[in-house]
Amino acid sequence: MKRALITGVTGQDGSYLAELLLEKGYEVHGTVRRSSTESFERIEHLAGKIHLHQADLLDQLSIIDVVKETDPHEVYNLAAQSFVPTSWKQPMLTGQFTALGVTQVLEAIRLLGKDRIRFYQASSSEMFGKVQEVPQREETPFWPRSPYGVAKVYGHWITVNYRESYNMFCCSGILFNHESERRGKEFVTRKVTDGVARIKLGLATELKLGNLDAKRDWGFAGDYVRAMWLMLQQDKPDDFVVATGETHTVKRLVELAFAAAGLDWQKYVKLDPALVRPAEVELLIGDPAKAQRVLGWKPEVTFEQLVERMVKADLARLQGKPLPDFKARGI
Ligand code: NAP
Ligand code: GDD
Repeated sequence: MKRALITGVTGQDGSYLAELLLEKGYEVHGTVRRSSTESFERIEHLAGKIHLHQADLLDQLSIIDVVKETDPHEVYNLAAQSFVPTSWKQPMLTGQFTALGVTQVLEAIRLLGKDRIRFYQASSSEMFGKVQEVPQREETPFWPRSPYGVAKVYGHWITVNYRESYNMFCCSGILFNHESERRGKEFVTRKVTDGVARIKLGLATELKLGNLDAKRDWGFAGDYVRAMWLMLQQDKPDDFVVATGETHTVKRLVELAFAAAGLDWQKYVKLDPALVRPAEVELLIGDPAKAQRVLGWKPEVTFEQLVERMVKADLARLQGKPLPDFKARGI
């Protein structure tokens, strides 16, 4: 039986990846941080099926201990301070978690199993920032626009460096934005779908947003964790862009989400300058050709289906109803 260790298992991607690995017969281990309130909502349904271990990316010994104890075949490093605006408020912390944290995990692997443990690093399209090429590919130069993006560039290159320095099986997945009904409510897709559901149910009267012109290549998180797993099943380690190849404005997202609840967005959306970022990433659109060719990966959920399922899920959640069975409905 293969064993996998996921850092950041309580996050959006961690929860989908844990499900996928369980389906594939893995013994799944995940790291969690100690906190005065538990943040296990996304993995509650996996209780008893996955093994949780206390560890923090900032504490090298805890990472070494968890790698030693679990003796994994694969390590997926998903833990990070992942919200871009927070990275301007807490740039040092973001650098410590999101950049140096990667080295902590790589060092633990180098120490304990550099010839056998396969490593996945959660890199980001945010690294392309002020994009130097359209669409963005694996070879497109990086120009990050936030302390988060800068930290992810470090995480990407240290992953490449451990592969080249120590011949370790290290892959960097350059993933474009991916969303779901499990997305944190501060990210724009979920903020919008939750806001729409609240307005529809009479729990709110408006939704404040920032830059409606920014464009993103949005996919479904459940599709993207499949690409992570595929990267670690190849004969040799490599880096891959994972994206849909389509881009949409925030405004289009807003239009679709309100329309999914039968509402006219123009009556409810208010622009709030405080939500505009010090430096914006205006356009992201990825070229997933390499992932398609080498991994045989392609996304299954379209942007329109994604927005619809997120609105439906938020409506159900706020009404205390069970979430819709998306698989049965083909989305
Ligand atoms: P997320 O929902 O914000 O989850 C982040 C996870 O990291 C949580 O489990 C969090 O734990 C954990 N974490 C944060 N700081 C930690 C620390 N110091 N030590 C240990 N764990 C820590 O993020 P996500 O959307 O699942 O994304 C997963 C990864 O992919 C992140 O690295 C993100 O930067 C990257 N990424 C995401 C996207 C995207 O569109 N979603 C795109 C490209 C790359 P708590 O629950 O305790 O906070
Ligand atoms: N969050 C947020 N809130 N974003 C807003 C808002 C708002 O009220 N109004 C407009 N936006 C715009 C942002 O300015 C940005 O251009 C876009 O919506 C997307 O913002 P987020 O959903 O916060 O995501 P992100 O693109 O900054 O970062 C996400 O994707 C990266 C991959 O490209 C995160 O998941 C990162 O962790 C990830 O690496």
